[in-house]
Amino acid sequence: MTVMKFMSYPSRTLSSPVSAPAPNRGRHARQRITQALLGATALACTLAVAPATAAAAKVPAGEKVARGSNCFSCHAVHHKVVGPAFEAVAKRFAHQPGAKAMLMHAVQFGHVGTWGQIPMPPHPKLSPLQLDEVITWVLSIRPQAAAAVAHKTYAYVVDGKKVLLDFPVFQPGTRNVTKSVFRGYELFNSYCFRCHGEDAIGSEYAPDLRTAVKNGMTQAQMTQIAMEGIKAKGMPAWAGFFSPKDLQAIYQYVAGRTYKLVGQGEPPQ
Ligand code: HEC
Ligand code: HEC
Repeated sequence: MTVMKFMSYPSRTLSSPVSAPAPNRGRHARQRITQALLGATALACTLAVAPATAAAAKVPAGEKVARGSNCFSCHAVHHKVVGPAFEAVAKRFAHQPGAKAMLMHAVQFGHVGTWGQIPMPPHPKLSPLQLDEVITWVLSIRPQAAAAVAHKTYAYVVDGKKVLLDFPVFQPGTRNVTKSVFRGYELFNSYCFRCHGEDAIGSEYAPDLRTAVKNGMTQAQMTQIAMEGIKAKGMPAWAGFFSPKDLQAIYQYVAGRTYKLVGQGEPPQ
């Protein structure tokens, strides 16, 4: 479990990307984020100084390389994010002669065209050993059992209308939002509000994201747009800055706002 939790903070230790604007107001939300970052760092340290624990001993070298770099901004092990699922890469190449060298080259120098038209950036800072380790790990990944990824739905009634979501907005039996929705509120009002409006109400600079969600934008679609950005239109790329889990939290907050389950201001938690 510790491993999974740690995996969701891969981009935390990276410095801010050039493309992501710095938050420009000192709201309490930012302090909490800083605390969360310190928490994640503390967890990282605990893992690093306690190699005797089972969790730390089990983490393959290549997975550590992936966590230490920006891979998890665009990839997940078992599902597509911006780049292909590592599971899919393994399925396609595991038994192909020369695949390892080819994939090491793709990660080192960047690649486009095998999985679509979105390019993977180069990773010039990874050493030959790190490239070897990370690709060895990727190629070792096996598909996850279908049962483990089955979806649950959550039904809420708003103004007499039923709303079905595939994530919970509230903690069971309460009107307090989940940790994830609350984190989405904090992240949105630290990084996205500047253009998309405080509490996701839209502004003259950028569209109201509630409209996009109402029109059917899925979590995967929002994640993809946010990771890549729309540079020509002034929408920054957040890859390397946010993890998929951060963007999931932002999506959940925006969806909560869309369906009027979450009001303006700080939601109860
Ligand atoms: C900014 C997003 C992004 C980041 C960061 C990123 N990737 Fe990718 N990755 C992609 C995309 C998009 C593709 C699909 C490229 C293509 O179609 O050829 C891809 C493809 C791959 C492939 C398959 C390459 C092929 O030739 O089929 C591997 C392996 C891979 N990535 C590993 C990694 C590793 C390891 C890291 C971290 C060191 C990483 N990626 C970081 C977006 C990213
Ligand atoms: C510097 C301003 C700016 C910031 C900050 C910003 N965006 Fe955007 N965003 C834009 C603009 C401008 C567009 C509209 C681009 C277009 O017209 O195609 C946009 C579009 C989008 C879209 C597509 C909306 C649609 O209807 O298709 C999504 C999703 C999105 N942004 C998510 C985010 C998220 C999530 C954050 C915070 C992590 C964020 N943005 C932060 C400027 C910004």
